[in-house]
Amino acid sequence: MSLKEQLNANIPQHVGIIMDGNGRWAKKQGFMRVFGHENGSSTVTKIVDAAVDVGVKYLTLYAFSTENWNRPKYEIEALMTLLVKSLKRELPKLHKEKVRLHAIGNIESLPKKPYKELKSVMDQTKDYDTMTLTLALSYGAREELVKSVQQIADKIKKDLISPHLITEDVIKEHLYTHDMPDVDLLIRTSGEQRISNFLLWQIAYAELYFTPVLWPDFTSEHLYKAFLDYQQRERRFGKTSEQLQDSPI
Ligand code: IPE
Ligand code: IPE
Ligand code: MG
Repeated sequence: MSLKEQLNANIPQHVGIIMDGNGRWAKKQGFMRVFGHENGSSTVTKIVDAAVDVGVKYLTLYAFSTENWNRPKYEIEALMTLLVKSLKRELPKLHKEKVRLHAIGNIESLPKKPYKELKSVMDQTKDYDTMTLTLALSYGAREELVKSVQQIADKIKKDLISPHLITEDVIKEHLYTHDMPDVDLLIRTSGEQRISNFLLWQIAYAELYFTPVLWPDFTSEHLYKAFLDYQQRERRFGKTSEQLQDSPI
């Protein structure tokens, strides 16, 4: 039986992926890091298909962090060019499969071309609901939290909300991800076991899955292996195992 056939109905609703290891993949073969990014972008295509295929509703991919702006200029430029190319290439398939493209992060800080392309694809796919594919671009979770605090503080100043009425829901409403559920499963490739400023609030109760596979080598089989692992786990959300057996959540 294939890995896909072994999956049960408990598919994680929201999957986040820290797509890491492009540079090392290229260097291992004696190529420039940018070659790894190019191959990594083909992996995105395959993983989006694989996620749609088993009914994932939200797939959020960490594509460029706020800290990645500190990389060499030529690498940033190559990544931005690749983003434009990938968006153009993927659009027909997004239409065909009715996948909505969404972005989180400080996307206004992107260069004009990728920004316009991104906006255009987001606009053309905004009514689709097979799956929401979110690209985290110029994204940093700390920046997201700072922004949300600023917005809430502004509302307090204008007497629109009082401090004691600030709840977790109010904070959630001010995050980029306000219209998405929390992350169920967070995958990071390349063997690193860290979060690198990705979705800090939203992964509070996510299951974490780390794999040594470098992103350009990551396949649908690896994705389904992660899902199978997820399906073996008991998500207790602070309760006891016995409580869950009495009344499954
Ligand atoms: C992930 O691969 C892609 C981005 C961060 C844009 P890396 O470029 O970080 O690859 P490694 O970690 O150096 O191998
Ligand atoms: C995290 O990868 C960001 C993305 C995958 C876009 P990095 O390669 O930038 O993370 P660190 O620097 O190794 O933590
Ligand atoms: Mg990396």
